[in-house]
Amino acid sequence: MATRSLLLVFLSAWLLLLLLLLQAVSSLQLTRSDFPDGFVFGAATAAYQYEGAAAEDGRSPSIWDTYTNSGRHPEEGNGDVACDGYHKYMDDVKLMSEMGLEAYRFTISWSRLIPSGRGAVNPKGLQFYNSMINELVKAGIQIHVALYHLDLPQSLQDEYDGWISPRIVDDFTAYADVCFREFGDRVAQWTTVLEPNALAQHGYDKGDLPPNRCSYPFGSNCTGGNSTVEPYLFVHHSLLAHASAVRLYREKYQAAHKGIIGINMYSIWYYPFTDSAEDVGATENAKAYMILHPLVFGEYPEAMKKAAGSRLPFFSSHESELVTDSFDFIGLNHYTSNYASSNSDVVKSPLQDVTADIAALFRDPQGLEHVLEYIREKYGNFLIYIQENGQGGTDGSMDDVERIECLAEYIAATLKAIRNGANVRGYSIWSFMDLYELFGGYYKSHYGLVAVDFGSTKRRRRPRRSASWYSDFLKNNAVVKVEDGFASAASHAQL
Ligand SMILES: *[C@@H]1O[C@H](CO)[C@@H](O)[C@H](O)[C@H]1NC(C)=O
Ligand SMILES: *[C@@H]1O[C@H](CO)[C@@H](O)[C@H](O)[C@H]1NC(C)=O
Repeated sequence: MATRSLLLVFLSAWLLLLLLLLQAVSSLQLTRSDFPDGFVFGAATAAYQYEGAAAEDGRSPSIWDTYTNSGRHPEEGNGDVACDGYHKYMDDVKLMSEMGLEAYRFTISWSRLIPSGRGAVNPKGLQFYNSMINELVKAGIQIHVALYHLDLPQSLQDEYDGWISPRIVDDFTAYADVCFREFGDRVAQWTTVLEPNALAQHGYDKGDLPPNRCSYPFGSNCTGGNSTVEPYLFVHHSLLAHASAVRLYREKYQAAHKGIIGINMYSIWYYPFTDSAEDVGATENAKAYMILHPLVFGEYPEAMKKAAGSRLPFFSSHESELVTDSFDFIGLNHYTSNYASSNSDVVKSPLQDVTADIAALFRDPQGLEHVLEYIREKYGNFLIYIQENGQGGTDGSMDDVERIECLAEYIAATLKAIRNGANVRGYSIWSFMDLYELFGGYYKSHYGLVAVDFGSTKRRRRPRRSASWYSDFLKNNAVVKVEDGFASAASHAQL
C-alpha cells in the first residue's frame, strides 16, 4: 500500500514535470486584447529624419543639418527632403489610421518652431504642427510628442556650445513652454529628451553624431570637444533642462491638459561576458549608465561616481530636488542586449553601434524582460513606455518576415513582463516609415513598417508586410504566435 502510493506520487510528479516542460516549449499566443486597459500601441518618427523642408517656411539649420552637410558621410546624404513629411503628413496620417495605429510619436523641430533658438515663434512652424496634430486628433490617434532629438538650433550651438553650457536649461524650458502652450491641449504624452545617455556617447565622446565633438584618442575628425568631460556635461544639462520643463508643465499646464510627461533613455540589457567578478561588475556599471538613478534619487549612481570621479558634475541641493521624481513615466528605447566585460578589448562597446546593425545581430526579447525587472527592483514600479523597438533590415524587402518575428517576440516579451508585474503602458515601433537613419542615411538600414521610395521625388509610400501584420494585430485582434523559450542569452559566438 505504502509503496504503491509512493509510486503514484512519484509518477504524478513526473507527469507534472512533463506538463510543465510541454508548456515551456509550446508557443505563446497573444492578442491585442490581452493587454491591460489604457495600453497603447504606436509607431514613431523624428523631425529631421522625416520632415524634410529643411530650409522652407522659416526653418533654420540645426546641429544635425550642419553635421550631415559637413561632407563627413557624403554617401549618406542629408535630411533636406527626407520623407518630405512636411508636405505629405496628411497622407501619412491617413496611412496610420488605415493601419490602426493607436498612438503616434513624433518630435518637434526646435529650429522650425523657434528659428533663432529663443525668442520669436515661427508662425509657419506653428501652423505645420497644429495642422498635423489636428489631423491626428481627427483620426483618433493618441499624440505623443518628444521635444528634443539631436537637432539643437545651430545658433545656440554657435552662441554657447549648446548642451554643454548650463545656459541651455532656460532656452530649452522656454521652447518647451511654447510647445506646451500651443499644442498641449491635444498632446497625451510629452517626452522631453530622447536617449541622452546614448547621445552623450555619440555626440560628445566618439563624435560620430551631431554636434560632432570628441577628443583624441576617443574619437576622431571632430571639430572640437573633450571626450572625457563633455559627455557628462551633456547628460547633466539634459537632466536639468528636462526637470525644469517638467516643473513648468506640472505647474502651468498639466491640470488643464491632463497629459503626462517624462524622459527617454536608451536601454540595453547586459550579460556578463564571463562569470568573473570583474565582468559581473562591468555589467552593473553598464546598467548604471542607463542613468535612471538621478531621476529617482537626485544624484548619480555610485558606479558613475566611481568611474568618472571629478569629471562628473554634481547636483546642488536645489537641483537635486528638481530632478528627483521629475517624471510621470520613463520611456525606453530598446533594441538589443549585449555583453559587458572588464576587458574592453574583448567586447565592443555596445553603444558604439547604437542602432540596427547590432540589433539585427542580437535579438533578445528576454533582455527587455530583464531590463523591466531590473528597473522595477532597483528603482520602483513606475510607469514605463517602450517608446522604440524594431528591426533594421538592410535590403528594404517588402516581405519583411524577419521584422514581423522580431516585433512579435518583443511584444510578447512586453506582455510577459506585464504579467510579472511590470507597469508598462505602451509599445511603439521604430519606425513608422523608412526615413533618414541616424547611422547609414537612406539606404543602409530600413526600419519602416512602410517603405519609402527615396529615389523618386514623390517619395512614394508602400506599406510592407509588417504593416499589414501590425494592422491585423491592432484592428482585428489577430492571434500572434511566438515560439516560447526565445533565444535569450545565447552563446558568445553570436557576437
Ligand atoms: C577622418 O577623416 C579622414 C579624412 O577625411 C578619413 O580618411 C577617415 O576615415 C576619418 N576617420 C573616421 C574615423 O571617420
Ligand atoms: C578635458 O578637460 C579636462 C578638465 O578640464 C582637462 O584636464 C583635459 O586636459 C581636457 N582634455 C582635452 C583633450 O582638452
